[in-house]
Amino acid sequence: MKILVIHGPNLHLLGARQPALYGTADLSAINKELIRAATAQGAILKILQSNHEGEIVSAIGSGRGLYDGLLLNAAAYTHTSLAIRDAIDASGIPTVEVHLSNIAAREPIRHQSMLAPVCLGQISGFGAASYRLGLEALLLAAAKGQASSAALSKTPTHAGRSRRAQKHRRR
Ligand code: DQA
Repeated sequence: MKILVIHGPNLHLLGARQPALYGTADLSAINKELIRAATAQGAILKILQSNHEGEIVSAIGSGRGLYDGLLLNAAAYTHTSLAIRDAIDASGIPTVEVHLSNIAAREPIRHQSMLAPVCLGQISGFGAASYRLGLEALLLAAAKGQASSAALSKTPTHAGRSRRAQKHRRR
């Protein structure tokens, strides 16, 4: 299982940035914990932090077909970026949106996520643990997706079923 993790603008400042809101863990501590949790479940992470919308759009677009999931904290772009939303949609990568703070409990301008409609779901408000919970949700969804596509490939097709029925009737 390969997961792309993207941290958006200003998240390189975690630890120092408004610790009352975002906690004291810095980005490298968050990444270390994510790698530990992923490795324990046999998943491989590719991690990127970017302050640039276009770079995030490109990373998502070029991840098409390469990743089983995207764990995304788009930070302020969450509330503004139609381009990131379109990139998620176009990439077809199952995505979980995460936030350290509870965006629904903050200023009204942060209540709307442009990205939520194209994500599997959103985890918001659990500090650094939001990332671990998001990864858990993503791995669960990816495993479920793999299981259901395997089950689908074993399900006889309509044509297959009618061929078998014809054979049965001939006997
Ligand atoms: C954030 C919430 C956003 O509203 C904000 O712009 C951020 C961080 C969070 O993780 O809580 O930069 O995504």
